[in-house]
Amino acid sequence: MLEMEIGDNVQKKPLCLIAAVCNNRGIGKDGKMPWDLPSEFQYFLNHITRVSRPGNMNMMVWGKRCWFCHPQSTLPLANALHAVLSTTLDTPPDHAHFVCKDLESAVQLAAQPPLAGLIETIWIIGGAQVYEAALKHPWCELVYLTEVMADFDCDVFFPEFDKELFKEQEEGFPNVPSGIQEENGIKYKFHVYKRDTSDAV
Ligand SMILES: NC(=O)c1ccc[n+]([C@@H]2O[C@H](COP(=O)([O-])OP(=O)(O)OC[C@H]3O[C@@H](n4cnc5c(N)ncnc54)[C@H](OP(=O)(O)O)[C@@H]3O)[C@@H](O)[C@H]2O)c1
Repeated sequence: MLEMEIGDNVQKKPLCLIAAVCNNRGIGKDGKMPWDLPSEFQYFLNHITRVSRPGNMNMMVWGKRCWFCHPQSTLPLANALHAVLSTTLDTPPDHAHFVCKDLESAVQLAAQPPLAGLIETIWIIGGAQVYEAALKHPWCELVYLTEVMADFDCDVFFPEFDKELFKEQEEGFPNVPSGIQEENGIKYKFHVYKRDTSDAV
């Protein structure tokens, strides 16, 4: 298992969450997504694989269950290094690059040599426990939430978070379509919350 010490040679990286959340804050059921929204899924893929320069990579951070439940047909993802969080795995699962014992180990892996020069963004892919840890991380700056405007039976939920600290951004945020979308008879809307750094010294 990879274990990283917090060292001096640390390059801070933007840490971003992305999730789709239905009316009761549900995000999953029986290890799967509760809905079938291919265009919303494509929006997710577009964000997590976007880099500003060819050759750069993003670090994707996954909970173990999320990793194993994710359709393997979407792998490998472009521009992606995958870190799976687990306290019980000793080696990375197939197609993953790293296994980390906690979120901070994954963050430090991305922020220190040899990966720091390569990694642009740390994307938090879920599930619930990983989102919860990420929302408390001081580097967490953007939360991309798709509001799925319907009720679904779920057994995993997106954590409550501080909307004073993470302020909702106006429509027109880069690469985020405005207005209500609809697919398969389900309405949804893209939202972005950004950490308010106005009080930071
Ligand atoms: N709607 C969405 O946008 C969205 C996004 C992602 C996932 N999902 C859904 O969410 C569900 C999966 O999420 P889940 O919450 O059940 O499971 P999960 O977070 O993917 O996996 C839980 C496991 O991951 C490891 N883990 C998680 N956080 C950790 C941490 N901070 N440090 C160390 N290890 C950590 C632990 O493994 P060990 O037991 O080995 O320690 C834990 O048992 C699925 O239904 C999936 O479809 C939905």
